[in-house]
Order: sequence, then structure tokens, then C-alpha cells
Amino acid sequence: MKKILITGGAGYIGSHTAVALVVAGFEPVIVDNFSNSDHSALNGLKRILGKELLCYEGDCNDRELLQRIFKENQFEGVIHFAAYKAVGESTQFPLKYYSNNLFSLIVLLETMAAFGVRDLVFSSSCTVYGQPDELPVKESTPRKEAESPYGNTKKICEDILRDYIKSGVNSRIISLRYFNPVGAHPSGEIGELPLGVPNNLVPFITQTAAGIREKLTVFGNDYATSDGSCVRDYIHVMDLADAHVKALEYLFKQKENFYDLFNVGTGKGNTVLEVIQTFEKVSGRPLNYQIGPRRPGDIEKVWANTDKINTVLGWHAKYSLEDSLRDSWNWQQKLGEKE
Ligand SMILES: NC(=O)c1ccc[n+]([C@@H]2O[C@H](COP(=O)([O-])OP(=O)(O)OC[C@H]3O[C@@H](n4cnc5c(N)ncnc54)[C@H](O)[C@@H]3O)[C@@H](O)[C@H]2O)c1
Repeated sequence: MKKILITGGAGYIGSHTAVALVVAGFEPVIVDNFSNSDHSALNGLKRILGKELLCYEGDCNDRELLQRIFKENQFEGVIHFAAYKAVGESTQFPLKYYSNNLFSLIVLLETMAAFGVRDLVFSSSCTVYGQPDELPVKESTPRKEAESPYGNTKKICEDILRDYIKSGVNSRIISLRYFNPVGAHPSGEIGELPLGVPNNLVPFITQTAAGIREKLTVFGNDYATSDGSCVRDYIHVMDLADAHVKALEYLFKQKENFYDLFNVGTGKGNTVLEVIQTFEKVSGRPLNYQIGPRRPGDIEKVWANTDKINTVLGWHAKYSLEDSLRDSWNWQQKLGEKE
């Protein structure tokens, strides 16, 4: 069985990708420092998979640790999720973000080269587009100045990867630009586990419905969109997980010295108010929310053109927004039962 290293594999997207990898016949190995995740994710994985995954607790900036992991395992590929991701926090502590997100990638690339591991899938983000001039946004659409240090780390990491491949190395790399991941594994055993106040809309919605938060604030209803609230492309995390498997399988078939990038979204935009209404429908609960002022740095609208990933990787989003919100709500309710 092909072993795949998943950095940040105890996190939200990494844990779901671990499941998708096992289903596809791979053997995932996790490294995570649990800076933004909990060991309970590993228990959830065990319940879904019926077996324990090998997990190293430690930091991807720790070169010696990475060397030990690569020495102890013969990897066919790596998926690099480990990074800090809170946009607001990154404006407060930019060096923390630049240091973790850039150095972990560099140390990882150097370790991969030292051990002859060629294939890497990297977590990028639609944040690199800023507010694009054309919608739906294509991979070829020029990137804009980043709105935050976090967004800039993703831009710089993409540039590092492009320059690295340009230097002629034999690696094969894909960057996936995720749109807005939502949902949870349908079993409710793993899902998004925000530490503290959630930064993302859907965990805030589910926590409000569960009574953990009093009220959701919708940031602005005067944007140039159908109902005035911001538009995003919400992608079920299981679909996103599957895109990583497709990306890896595609990399294995490429000639050496290869780099490409793909949008991963549904190709459909939904407003914040549509998400709230859909949540109320699938959960059968009215949501306590209010309209507030715009939040500085928010993009008005963005959704993906998915032609490239559909045709080249043969990947299509299968889950609907209803599915995503039902699964997020199921996960939230199961979390409540555990407390
Ligand atoms: N969730 C989103 O909305 C979103 C959107 C676009 C891109 N991304 C990117 O996808 C990746 C995964 O996101 P997520 O939502 O699963 O985040 P997450 O915080 O749930 O998962 C990241 C994991 O990496 C770990 N980690 C962080 N720094 C580490 C380090 N130096 N060494 C070892 N482990 C480390 C954290 O503990 C966490 O378990 C990140 O790179 C993120 O920037 C996320």
C-alpha cells in the first residue's frame, strides 16, 4: 500500500482526506502539532476506519523530526495541510503566520528532496484571487494583492513551488486552491473543530443553533449581490478530500518536473443569507441572527470556474449545500452529546 504523509492531518480538511485516502487504498501517516486541532480527531478517524492511523505529534518546522518520519516510512507522496489559517489573527501576528506557513513548506520540500520523495499536493486558497475582475474565477485569472498576511503566505507558497519546479528539480507538485470548505463526514465522527470563537460562517451558524453562541452577525447586506450579503462557493469537505486523492493519482502519472494548480469549488455561489435559510430548512430550527456592518477586508463575491479540475482531474463536486449543512449540523449535535 502506498504511504502518504499528511501534514496537519488531525485538522479539519486533513482528517477527512485521511478517510478518502484509506478508501482509495492508500495508507496515510499523519504529522500534526495539535496547535489547532484535538486528539479526539484521531479517535473519530479510528471509529470511521476501524483502525488506528500512525500519527507523529510534532512540528513540521522541526527538521530532525521530519527526517525521522521520512526515515521510518517510505512515502509515495505528501499532502501539506499544516499551516495557520485565521485571517484576522494573521493581521495581528504576521510573523507567526509567515514563519509557520513558509518555513514548514521549505523544510518539507528539503526533506522530501533528501529522501527522494517527489510528489506533493499543497493547500492553497481562493484568497489568492482577492476580489477577481471576472467571475467565475479561473486559474488563469491574475492574482490580486493579498488582503491579509495569511493570504500572502498562500501566494508566496505558490510562488515558492513554481520557482522550485522552474529550477529543474524532478518533483511533481499540485496546488489546490480551495474555495470555502464546509460540512463534515456523514458519520458525524469528524468535522470542523474551531478552538474558541469560530472564524468561519458555518461553525458559527451551528454553534448559534446549538446555543453556544447567542447570535450570528451577518457582515453587511449592502453588497452588489442578489440579497446584499457576500457570496462564496461552499464546497463539502468530503468532495474536497476526494480532490486530493485525484490530484495525487494524477501526479503519479506525470513526467518529472511538473507543477500545476486547480480551483476546488462547486462552481456555484451562495449568499450568506441563502446559507442561513438553507441551514434553517435542513435543521428545522430558526437561527438567531442580525445584520451588522461590513467587515473590513471581506471580498464581495467569489466563486470558482471548475472546468479545469473537472476535465483534467475528472473530479466533480457531488454534495449539495443542503448536504453540507446537514452534515455540519449532525457533527455539531454529536459534539454536544459528547460534552
Ligand atoms: N478551512 C478553510 O477555510 C481553508 C480554505 C483554504 C485553504 N485552507 C488551507 O487548508 C489547510 C488545512 O486547513 P484546515 O481548515 O484543515 O485547518 P486546520 O487548522 O483544521 O488544520 C491544520 C492542521 O495543521 C496543524 N498545524 C499547523 N501548523 C503546524 C506545524 N507547523 N506542524 C504540524 N502541524 C501543524 C494544526 O494543528 C491543524 O491540525 C491549511 O493550509 C489552510 O490554510 C483552508
